[in-house]
Amino acid sequence: MKKLVAVLLAGVMCASLAACGSDAADESVTSDAEAVVEETTEETEEAAADEAAAADTEAAGEASGEVTTVTEGVLTMGTNAAFPPYEYYDDSDNVVGIDAEIAQAIADKLGLTLEIQDMDFNSIITAIQSGKVDVGIAGMTVSEDRLQNVDFTDSYATGVQVIIVPEDSEIESVDDLEGKLIGVQEGTTGHIYCSDDYGEENVRAYTNGATAVQALLSNQIDCVVIDQQPALSFVEANEGLKILDTEYTIEDYAIAVSKDNPALRDAINTALNELIEDGTVQSILDKYITAE
Ligand code: ARG
Repeated sequence: MKKLVAVLLAGVMCASLAACGSDAADESVTSDAEAVVEETTEETEEAAADEAAAADTEAAGEASGEVTTVTEGVLTMGTNAAFPPYEYYDDSDNVVGIDAEIAQAIADKLGLTLEIQDMDFNSIITAIQSGKVDVGIAGMTVSEDRLQNVDFTDSYATGVQVIIVPEDSEIESVDDLEGKLIGVQEGTTGHIYCSDDYGEENVRAYTNGATAVQALLSNQIDCVVIDQQPALSFVEANEGLKILDTEYTIEDYAIAVSKDNPALRDAINTALNELIEDGTVQSILDKYITAE
């Protein structure tokens, strides 16, 4: 039940966030213009009008160099790069993937340089709160608990929690998980749902999905609950595993931003919505996710 509530809530939040998103963008146009007008009372009417017009253009399109970030001119992104195809290391040791590309496109629009910091998934929210990073972009699900600590932008993708089992497993659906030893990635929604639904004593948390899958391959656990796209990558990379047809939960991925920096959240939402509308986000998703 709990998970259903969370899913519904995520949906509602997403809808209302989407609504706020466009309002907020409009508001920032107005307030930017107002701020400029205020600052320039000493100057001629004409100059003020010019600047207000410039502020309008900035907010609407190429977005502003006005946002404050942890390091000036840089968008610092916290992620956990063991989550293909959203974030992972390529052969040249660069963090690549859907989130890295969306982040780069947003940074470009905001006139910022992107810097990626790889960390445990469980540390990302604290890193945002303590001002170590500006944003968390990590296939991160919007949840009620996380909203206590950070803000989220509009959603840019959908996630599904699925179950990986050995090919010959007796587990056939989510109904068979009772009493089984479930592997999860620490601090993820899969971890939280499984602990709530099946009891903490039945859940083993690993620092990342790949380690959980290794534990499954060496028979230390009975299954792994993890997001669908990484699950597909892990199953493809390892023999003898399969993903069950029954889905555990459906969720919304969004970008986490500090509650102390609503201007950054708004600027990212403006950029993100432009990237959704012009098809950039979809083409990035399509590049990494091939339809079954
Ligand atoms: N969607 C899940 C969550 O938000 C898992 C995300 C894990 N992401 C990662 N980059 N390891 O809890």
